[in-house]
Amino acid sequence: MLRMVDIIEKKRDGGLLSKEEIEFFVTGYTEGSIPDYQASAFLMAIYFQKMTSEEQGYLTMAMAESGDQIDLSAIEGIKVDKHSTGGVGDTTTLILAPLVAACGVPVAKMSGRGLGHTGGTLDKLEAIEGFHVEISTAQFIQQVNDLKIAVIGQSGNLTPADKKLYALRDVTATVDSIPLIASSIMSKKLAAGADAIVLDVKTGVGAFMKTLEDSKRLADAMVAIGNEVGRNTSAVISDMSQPLGLAIGNALEVKEAIDTLQGKGPADLTELCLVLGSKMLLAADKATDEQNARAQLQQVMENGDALRLFGELIRAQGGNAEVITNPNLLPQAPFQIDVPAKQSGYISQIDADEVGVAAMLLGAGRATKEDVIDLAVGIMLKKKIGDYVEAGESVAILHSNKEHADDSIKLLQDHIHILTEKTQAPPLIHII
Ligand code: URA
Ligand code: CA
Repeated sequence: MLRMVDIIEKKRDGGLLSKEEIEFFVTGYTEGSIPDYQASAFLMAIYFQKMTSEEQGYLTMAMAESGDQIDLSAIEGIKVDKHSTGGVGDTTTLILAPLVAACGVPVAKMSGRGLGHTGGTLDKLEAIEGFHVEISTAQFIQQVNDLKIAVIGQSGNLTPADKKLYALRDVTATVDSIPLIASSIMSKKLAAGADAIVLDVKTGVGAFMKTLEDSKRLADAMVAIGNEVGRNTSAVISDMSQPLGLAIGNALEVKEAIDTLQGKGPADLTELCLVLGSKMLLAADKATDEQNARAQLQQVMENGDALRLFGELIRAQGGNAEVITNPNLLPQAPFQIDVPAKQSGYISQIDADEVGVAAMLLGAGRATKEDVIDLAVGIMLKKKIGDYVEAGESVAILHSNKEHADDSIKLLQDHIHILTEKTQAPPLIHII
């Protein structure tokens, strides 16, 4: 008979765990027969001894199978999902979903709400009047088969093992363990039914992983897990030494997505979407090579198909599709407040996580799950790394529902770094 104490001891001493041992832990902890103190000791043993990709595969599958799993087999074609590891103002999902769907890839997107920083994809979509995400699974599948695209809110009991373990890791100093992060993220993607997964691992000051080496290790671990469990998985590492694009805030990001879908978006955001979109087309067998994939994506941006499909998605889910031609229909904040540069020089770094906090203070994000967010508010950056500013010139504009927002202004002034020497932005993308 398996005993948790023996499993802890085996991992503590650097042994390799079997599938049965890992499943015993995940099942027992989820149902409550294994107590927090044993789970804590086990997590700490994993933290120090790490796990092989085979063990990480078992852990991921056991967590994915700990609750409901979405069955997308009624959708024709290869379902490709994308995951970005914690960026700020990350508008890529909003752009990529219609972009790749317009190239024929079925997009069955399950999305969540944001906590902290700015909103999640659901919050952003709800900035569009009437848009609703509470659709039935049957309707969801039907819509993907008809339109190639649907977005549904997370419901049901997905990966309860991960929820419980993540909360425990938070209070036992075991969050920043690559095997634990990788299996946590991948278990949620698997439970959501993806056949193939494209990962966007952020690196830099604003990201979860601050160094390129750690980001690579996390990306490698997730790719290995995906392949271990039979899902085609690939990854890119993208820079977060400044926020992606210019908009941070829900309605502002919807507007930015509309611009980008027509090829009129910020260069960095557009490029990342083309890179990730190409990987998604390849994973779905819709392109022969990267170059061909990129050409298809550029074509649907230029000929209007991508934006048109975004409009159809909005209409199908009850929203006012007129926003795609008239973004002024999105909620607008009553006050626009300049953030003046405190000195002259070149922008050298923009701490994305602090920009996220500044947006949250304006009301764009939630401090607790119960908070109601203001979809209209946020930040539009006016400058990016390498740009010159004069003292007093505006580096960003706050979209605010209050006439004064001194705390957000101060935060941005402290975290948009200015040097007398010009700095180059780090490479946007490291492909692995
Ligand atoms: N995000 C997750 O979903 N899980 C982790 O462990 C860390 C970040
Ligand atoms: Ca953005």
